[in-house]
Amino acid sequence: MSQKVFNGQKPLKGEITIPADKSISHRAIIFASIAKGQSVIKNFSKGKDPLSSLEICRALGAEIEHNENSIIVKSEGKYFPNKGDITLNCGNSGTTMRLMSGILAGQKFNSTLTGDESLSSRPMKRIIEPLTLMGAKIESINNKAPLKIYGSSLNSINYESSIASAQVKSCVLLAGLYADAVTTYKEIYPSRNHTEIMLSSMGANLTSHDGIITISNSELAPLDIEIPGDISSAAFFIVAALIVPNSKIIIKNVGLNETRCGILKVAENMGANIEILDKREICGEIVGDILVQYTQGLKSCEISGEIIPTLIDEIPIIALLATQAQGTTIIKDAQDLRNKESDRIKLTVSELKKLGANIEETTDGMIIRGKTTLTGGVEVDSHKDHRLAMSLYVGGLICQKEIQINEFEWVNISFPEFVSLMCSLIS
Ligand code: S3P
Repeated sequence: MSQKVFNGQKPLKGEITIPADKSISHRAIIFASIAKGQSVIKNFSKGKDPLSSLEICRALGAEIEHNENSIIVKSEGKYFPNKGDITLNCGNSGTTMRLMSGILAGQKFNSTLTGDESLSSRPMKRIIEPLTLMGAKIESINNKAPLKIYGSSLNSINYESSIASAQVKSCVLLAGLYADAVTTYKEIYPSRNHTEIMLSSMGANLTSHDGIITISNSELAPLDIEIPGDISSAAFFIVAALIVPNSKIIIKNVGLNETRCGILKVAENMGANIEILDKREICGEIVGDILVQYTQGLKSCEISGEIIPTLIDEIPIIALLATQAQGTTIIKDAQDLRNKESDRIKLTVSELKKLGANIEETTDGMIIRGKTTLTGGVEVDSHKDHRLAMSLYVGGLICQKEIQINEFEWVNISFPEFVSLMCSLIS
């Protein structure tokens, strides 16, 4: 499906509530499915990726009742009732594949995890390596999906990861729930910590101090959670309001976990007019409302090092923001962006260039020179990447001529409500 975008200077005005966080939705359904008892999850994401996790947990034998406003999960505990060999399709979802691998390695049956074309080309050595050190047996060709996982008993490890990846960290911590002793995990920079927060709230034997996380064999107590809005989805609205003249919006119920808020720090460094209202805590996660106003005179900045994992999914939309900032914005240390749903360095650069941006690819990031007028009047492509699709849509809002985004339906991976929410703000 293709999507045409032309805005003609109309500002964004009003208030929206951002839908549920994708990362937390995955964790809620997966962890509830291995917790002994009945869990209740409210405000679960409608994205296809978290639904892949849900369907897999159901296929493995967790009892899942999915209603309009809540999900009720009943489980016997950390060993799924499934008996024979089973094949499970993770679709486009790296989070599903990597988190489930940690759990499946400790089960009493064998499983094969498959994925779509994009997921089957993404690197899995990062989880195969630590799981193998824990005694797991995993078969794959060239460390890519499909992954055949032989359920077995696991031993603990002390693991230091050279990449800051919450998916790898979560995989190892989940395997640690089944291991014989204390597993220790350390990563180069802190990645998102939703797993640590949720597992601790469910009674896991987990500690986290000074970047070192430990976990040992635990049974999980059931979960009662209301999932906050997704800052990675809010990011498209934040940038849209900052760059479309005269905009002023409030984005309600956004998760503001420190390990996810890099985009707010970058926006602040650029001089953006953003205010956080009504900061509160829900189920261990910080939540707030975000007031964003159009900002003239945004300035460029450098984005590198420790902040990268806290904004890794927002880089395509930050690159668009940088096209509207005065000066040269440099993004570096983000090489892992090439391993996402698409090569997001190469494709963000090539597609934004088509809109008229002055942007250049580097091995580990990009260089953007602003401020540029985006001319538009072209066809661009999502390359089957939801975040690229939405970034291009927001770019289209400030293009002088209409653009057409091909393969736009991929927004449904994380944010099926995207276009209707955007339209509700533009009268
Ligand atoms: C995620 C972690 C990040 C992120 C992805 C979701 C998660 O990936 O890019 O969209 O839910 O754990 P990595 O852990 O591979 O960096």
